[in-house]
Amino acid sequence: METSTQPESGRHLYRHQIPITVAAFVRVYVWEIPVRLFHWVNAICIVTLIATGYVIGNPQAVFYANEAYQLYWFGTVRFVHFAAAYIFFFNYLFRIYWAFVGNQYSRWYNYVPLKKWQWLEILEVFRVDIFQLKLKRALELGHNALAAVSYLALFLLFLFQVATGFALYGEMSSSWLPKLFRWVTPLMGGELAVRQWHHIAMWAFVLFIIMHVYIVFYHDYVEAKGTTSSIINGWKFRREDEL
Ligand code: HEM
Repeated sequence: METSTQPESGRHLYRHQIPITVAAFVRVYVWEIPVRLFHWVNAICIVTLIATGYVIGNPQAVFYANEAYQLYWFGTVRFVHFAAAYIFFFNYLFRIYWAFVGNQYSRWYNYVPLKKWQWLEILEVFRVDIFQLKLKRALELGHNALAAVSYLALFLLFLFQVATGFALYGEMSSSWLPKLFRWVTPLMGGELAVRQWHHIAMWAFVLFIIMHVYIVFYHDYVEAKGTTSSIINGWKFRREDEL
């Protein structure tokens, strides 16, 4: 049995009871290699920083009968945390540079909601994501306006985390980079306050990751434009009648 309806655009057919949409799609190269590399280096660093940071914040009292030189595991955890912080920081600087030289989808102006259409799209995405309503029109092919503004907030939080983290490290490091942030500690009212804010921000990243991965998969399902794979291979799909 074969039936067809014509909602919005594109024909919806049922073949052997399986719903299929008949529409022409074009393939658009959206995320260049530097953006994808930034994304995955950033994701690996953040997960590493969260895991090691959590251990540093909750040190375990472990008693061994070993020699002292065999008990350096906590030092190793701290070393991994600081090394990941350096990689994270330079990767972040690189992405800021790319926001000025990259393609139209990765440029800085996508992330700052200065235009009316961006606010309308933010409302539209809220309708879809929170109230689970049907998408009324096609969203931006790059990041939708709500995703983009959430990445802007995330990038500002990165800066906060870098400043507080290096401020803490600056107290015990002779390296120039952490020392650059030593002014943060008196400004925030001492090392204890800096440590607490650094810890609270870590939980904001945990929250972001849970929401981010869920929303990426959800939009992949709702929009059917290859969102998830785009951050691996760079390509997205746009229906020809929506171009
Ligand atoms: C399995 C894990 C992850 C998947 C599948 C994933 C997937 C994606 C996808 C598909 C996009 C592009 C979304 C769009 O087209 O609008 C994206 C962007 C982004 N993701 Fe993830 N992501 C993951 C983990 C993470 C983690 C752990 C972080 C770090 C907190 C992160 C931070 C970001 C950022 C900052 C962007 C914007 C990139 C830019 O514009 O340069 N992601 N992610």
